[in-house]
Amino acid sequence: MDFRYAALTRENAEEWQNLRLEGVRDFPVGFLLTEEEAAKTSVERAADILAAGSTRGVFSNDTLAGFCGFRRSELERLRHRAELGPFFVSARFQGKGAASVLMLGVIEEAHAAGIEQLELFVDTKNARAIRFYQRFGFKHAATLIDSVRIDGRSHNDDFMTLKFSG
Ligand SMILES: CC(C)(COP(=O)(O)OP(=O)(O)OC[C@H]1O[C@@H](n2cnc3c(N)ncnc32)[C@H](O)[C@@H]1OP(=O)(O)O)[C@@H](O)C(=O)NCCC(=O)NCCS
Repeated sequence: MDFRYAALTRENAEEWQNLRLEGVRDFPVGFLLTEEEAAKTSVERAADILAAGSTRGVFSNDTLAGFCGFRRSELERLRHRAELGPFFVSARFQGKGAASVLMLGVIEEAHAAGIEQLELFVDTKNARAIRFYQRFGFKHAATLIDSVRIDGRSHNDDFMTLKFSG
């Protein structure tokens, strides 16, 4: 399968919103939003979120297969770091290379922008995602206890970082 990496824009709002709803419903540990909170987002609001420029996508032909948040601080003292997440690929494109194209796209873009450290949080029980991140060189940096409560149950997160230098 061929996949293409791209920054998402207002034009992708409806497709992105649908994919996000799918992710929140099928993989709740991969998201901070509840289904109800995600469903409240209008297409106009989704367009505004994408217009902020902090979301990247992976396409199969013209179909959005996955997306991830990619945020760099404007503050001079934090500009060596960027945060990833949520990171999601639709179930029908998992295990097919789409997630790798998305991650490689982000890594290449971050590197070109002079970012030296990528960071993310992942549920400590999300073995597939952790394995995926490790494949790209992400390393466990810390564990945040009781970071998220899903339906009242406490979850811990691993904080993982990928350093390009140093
Ligand atoms: C996380 C995600 C983006 C990875 O994409 P993917 O297409 O599934 O990833 P890949 O198939 O390339 O790699 C998954 C790796 O986990 C391994 N794996 C699969 N199931 C596993 C499991 N239950 N336990 C441990 N490892 C597992 C695979 O063998 C593969 O490792 P390998 O390359 O060493 O063989 C995707 O699964 C996803 O969107 N998941 C739902 C949302 C989510 O959890 N996002 C992360 C939030 S932080």
